[in-house]
Amino acid sequence: MSRIVYLNGDYVPEQDARISIFDRGFLFSDAVYEVTAVLNGKLLENEGHIARLVRSCRELKLSLPVTPAELDAIQRELIARNQLREGAVYLQLSRGTTGDREFDFPPAGTPPTLTLFTQARPVINNAKAINGIRVVTLEDIRWHRRDIKTVGLLAPCLAKEYAHAQGADDAFLVENGLITEGSACNAWIVTPAGTLVTRPLSNDILHGITRRSLLMLAETHAIPFEERAFSVEEAYAAREAFISSATTFIWPVIGIDGRTVGDGVPGPVTRALRAIYVDMALRATA
Ligand code: PDD
Repeated sequence: MSRIVYLNGDYVPEQDARISIFDRGFLFSDAVYEVTAVLNGKLLENEGHIARLVRSCRELKLSLPVTPAELDAIQRELIARNQLREGAVYLQLSRGTTGDREFDFPPAGTPPTLTLFTQARPVINNAKAINGIRVVTLEDIRWHRRDIKTVGLLAPCLAKEYAHAQGADDAFLVENGLITEGSACNAWIVTPAGTLVTRPLSNDILHGITRRSLLMLAETHAIPFEERAFSVEEAYAAREAFISSATTFIWPVIGIDGRTVGDGVPGPVTRALRAIYVDMALRATA
């Protein structure tokens, strides 16, 4: 069944959505995006995603052509039109085009390109969430504004490709010996003493919406945590490791660079935190 997608005010079958080859999102990756999880046909943590979108736009002097409330309504309309129960809504805003390839920003008033589409996929009963994944470490070659969610995603694509070539599922990106984050997720470890550790917010990582909620839930459930950078060696020695994002929630990491993490199976802290998050998510979308 063909999806109904959104393009600049219209809901159209995906094969009918047309964008100029001169669109700056296509030519320069001059675009920002957000991915919001959908459970039970409802958006999860969407206020956080829209707030981050507004921030990304501000950082790049991109103007959002709709209000946050209108955006939320478009997302909900798309879920309804596609009868999506579980998966995600992707949205992308580019700086549009003047009809040619020019590095300079287009004049004020040039309409941006807003596109949205749905993706159906299992979030709750996902084999990787249950069995865990293996990652490899890799130098982080991304630009220095990783806090802005732009569509310049070639480095993460290369990282995933490298991981798959090594027989792994994903990569932990490393800068100066310290893990920044995963290719499209935040990275976490549980120390031998049982403390959750994830890198603090800065321009070095994306400010994950799931990450923020997990820290709040850890606090509520008295799970000790620290926001600090951790090294590759510390990750090797960790009792547990996991990743977080809107599309995975939490996936346990059971191997790093061919070494076994902990007992080589999803650990108790990771499983407990995932259960707490899933419980929150199901309540929020009931
Ligand atoms: N990725 N770090 C990076 C580099 C990411 O791309 C993402 C999300 C995250 C997690 O952020 P959040 O919890 O807000 O989803 C961290 C999305 C899912 C993607 O690119 O598909």
